[in-house]
Amino acid sequence: MSQTANPATPATLDSGAAAQVSSSASAQVTATGARDRYAVVGNPVSHSKSPFIHARFAEQTGEPIEYTHLLAPIDAFVPHVRAFMEAGGRGLNVTVPFKLDAHALATTLSPRAAAAGAVNTLRFDADGIHGDNTDGFGLVRDIEVNLATPLKGARILLLGAGGAARGVVLPMLERAPHTLTIVNRTAEKASALVDQFSAAAHAAGCRLAGGSASAIEPGAYDVIINATAGSLDAALPEFDDGAFGSATLAYDMMYGARPTVFMQHAQTLGARAADGLGMLVEQAAESFYIWRGVRPDGAPVLAQLRQLLAAPGAA
Ligand code: ATR
Repeated sequence: MSQTANPATPATLDSGAAAQVSSSASAQVTATGARDRYAVVGNPVSHSKSPFIHARFAEQTGEPIEYTHLLAPIDAFVPHVRAFMEAGGRGLNVTVPFKLDAHALATTLSPRAAAAGAVNTLRFDADGIHGDNTDGFGLVRDIEVNLATPLKGARILLLGAGGAARGVVLPMLERAPHTLTIVNRTAEKASALVDQFSAAAHAAGCRLAGGSASAIEPGAYDVIINATAGSLDAALPEFDDGAFGSATLAYDMMYGARPTVFMQHAQTLGARAADGLGMLVEQAAESFYIWRGVRPDGAPVLAQLRQLLAAPGAA
């Protein structure tokens, strides 16, 4: 999924944030003693909201960390990561376009990172480089906790079959939904995901199916997730309007100052709509937990971020 530096455009996870949000963040870390170093690595990366989020988590938990941006040239991810490690860095968040490179670099992988085929969190310790992927966890937690929508027993429609979609399938299956239908413009990619996750779906008692839009089943779904890159250029993915009902949660993994076209369309069909800002905060909280063993509360940080995003000049 491509990313944009235009803050007015809906953003992918950890991208497209208003510049003033992240630049004010690292300056607000006020601990006096030695602090453990973390960063978000990407290209571009200056608009990332992660330093703001982790600075708030550090304040909230009292953990002595410093968290900055790390811009790596496209062809020099590994040397930049190694230099960060040698300078005492303890862990990294990884964003576009390096999640596959981070997956290759890790010496151990969590099951969810292996399933995703991508890594968004690296932890450096005596045992080596541990790779994890907290994106799916963040999505599930945002839906279930912040949006109070249980996934257990739910009928879920997932739109898209790229990296963003693949990263969230296993954590969703682990919530034991009734049905997961994966639909993609390129139907074969959705079918490949169905094949990849059929054993996990069976273990979860979930009916997993997918392909083109014709795979969408009759009746309203409980949750519809847009994991396509369509919102970046205001394009709607292909779907069936009958999939949306008044009890449907329509979730766009993108976010921006204004509702995405997908959210607007869902609302005109009577559904409740949410963007991916909560997923961004909750994936960060899980990364923080992986590094520090302390779980911050995402809700107040999400509220602050939402205010900043809505502020004049932020979008
Ligand atoms: P990412 O890793 O961020 O998911 P990706 O692997 O390029 O990015 O996948 C982008 C997803 O958005 C794919 O599911 C893509 O559909 P195709 O596999 O058919 O390319 C989907 N996508 C992008 N633009 C779209 C559009 N305008 N309409 C529908 N789907 C779109």
